[in-house]
Amino acid sequence: MKKILIASHNEGKIKEFRDILEPLGLEVVSAAELNVSDVEETGKTFEENAALKAEAMTRETGFACIADDSGLCVNALSGRPGVYSARYAPDRDFGKGMDMILEEIAATGSEDRSAYFMCVLALAVPGGEVYTFEGKVDGNISLEKRGDRGFGYDKIFVPKGYDLTFGELSKEEKNALSHRGRALQKFVEFMKTKNG
Ligand code: IMP
Repeated sequence: MKKILIASHNEGKIKEFRDILEPLGLEVVSAAELNVSDVEETGKTFEENAALKAEAMTRETGFACIADDSGLCVNALSGRPGVYSARYAPDRDFGKGMDMILEEIAATGSEDRSAYFMCVLALAVPGGEVYTFEGKVDGNISLEKRGDRGFGYDKIFVPKGYDLTFGELSKEEKNALSHRGRALQKFVEFMKTKNG
């Protein structure tokens, strides 16, 4: 495998993959560059969604393809928004989405603020094989939004062992312990063994 397609149109995500994969001798192309459209996330789990995106793009292009799916699971809300994290926020307004989560937890009357971020990366190779790599970070939902960094639900998530939210931590600190960082580390180890 020398060429790998990233199933994303998100410049930030593409750059993150490129920075990690090019030093391993892989040529990175993105769905945006090849003009391949996004695949609808119809699965019920992170793993299903990541795998269906990677497989569909491999079938369409003939290249090995890597796709990811991620989200925030809040225990007091029975794991929601989970795989629906991107769609939970109205018009992708994550400021509103975070307020909704804080309100929903308050409405349950539960003291339990535990939550986790989950990320599954799927690698599909031509011929049908799919490999998945999972990363998880446990933590708690803060009482209010804090910080001005990051994206999505970063400002209400305090990783276990820390007092600061992902929105208050530096990018380097977040990447070192995040769900995506952890899944990527597993994927990189796998690619190193595959490429010798
Ligand atoms: P995906 O692009 O379908 O994987 O959507 C994942 C959604 O989950 C994003 O739109 C974010 O709202 C949320 N999410 C995933 N990872 C993070 C993170 O590291 N910080 C904050 N929100 C995240």
